[in-house]
Amino acid sequence: MEFSENILNALSSDISIITAEDLVYIRGETSKQENLRIVIDAMGEASARVQDLKNIITTTAKFKESLHTLYIMKDQENKTVVGILKVGIKKLFVMDRLGRQHEIEPLCVLDFYVHENCQRSGYGKKLFEYMLINEKVENPYKLAFDRPSDKFKSFLKKYYNLENFVPQPNNFVIFDEYGLQDKPTNSRILNTSSNRRHSAPYEKIPTGTYHRHTRSLTPHHHYYPSSLFDSSSPILSSSSPSSPSPSENNFTSVSSISHSAPPKEIYVQRKRELANQQEISKQSLYGNNPIL
Ligand code: ACO
Repeated sequence: MEFSENILNALSSDISIITAEDLVYIRGETSKQENLRIVIDAMGEASARVQDLKNIITTTAKFKESLHTLYIMKDQENKTVVGILKVGIKKLFVMDRLGRQHEIEPLCVLDFYVHENCQRSGYGKKLFEYMLINEKVENPYKLAFDRPSDKFKSFLKKYYNLENFVPQPNNFVIFDEYGLQDKPTNSRILNTSSNRRHSAPYEKIPTGTYHRHTRSLTPHHHYYPSSLFDSSSPILSSSSPSSPSPSENNFTSVSSISHSAPPKEIYVQRKRELANQQEISKQSLYGNNPIL
């Protein structure tokens, strides 16, 4: 999808990693946030359109309130954004092949879209692999997929030989290789640092998130990756004109990124500010009527 060079400059690398923090308006950087908003909303809308979804899953407004991570791939030379990939941790209740229920908290692929002009050219694979490395996911079978389309299922079969799963009432796909059937009944498989050994440090905080299909704001526990704050990360900061094009990108080099400790207080403070802002605007709309 074509964008002006000015808008594309808001994306610092061939693949940029965006979180809610990047959308917080900072004095002097307003145009950057606005340009990011334009890209996210346009790509989110296009993704929903090609998937024939009633509602748009990825919008700036929803994303700002989430702890999701959005990977955006651009082609600066051709002044286009090639695709987006959104991931986030969710608590899910899923059934194994024996009909036993399990509570799991996997990293979920929530939205994946490569522009129609670029599909079947390997961009999706590059974007996906980049995400796997950055999220420290050793194998995609450890992920959950929110109602994957036929194209995405074909993609997962072709590259990762993932095919078989038990249909779930919530439409998430957990492949057999995840090993649900090997877990004890009603097991709680949490995405803790002990079972995601190689992942960056995560903080568990209660928050709300939008569900792909219902769009209802439901409480979930999420983990907040330190990488969200690591603006010194080479991926986040490589805005130099010498950045390699997607085809030249050395994606494996991402694994060498070191994550510094997350300034959790900033995040918590930001959430408080948002809650206060919402409360203030609610009161200015409705006054102090206790019924509302
Ligand atoms: N029909 C069938 N399979 C397809 C198609 C298609 N039109 N397009 C891609 N694929 C699969 C095939 O396995 C294909 O391999 P093949 O060409 O040998 O058959 C493989 O993907 C190609 O791999 P890439 O080129 O790396 O993938 P691409 O850049 O096309 O990105 C993606 C894959 C994201 C699924 C893209 O096709 C797309 O955006 N599709 C429309 C939106 C969509 O369905 N997104 C997934 C929604 S579900 C979710 O987000 C959780």
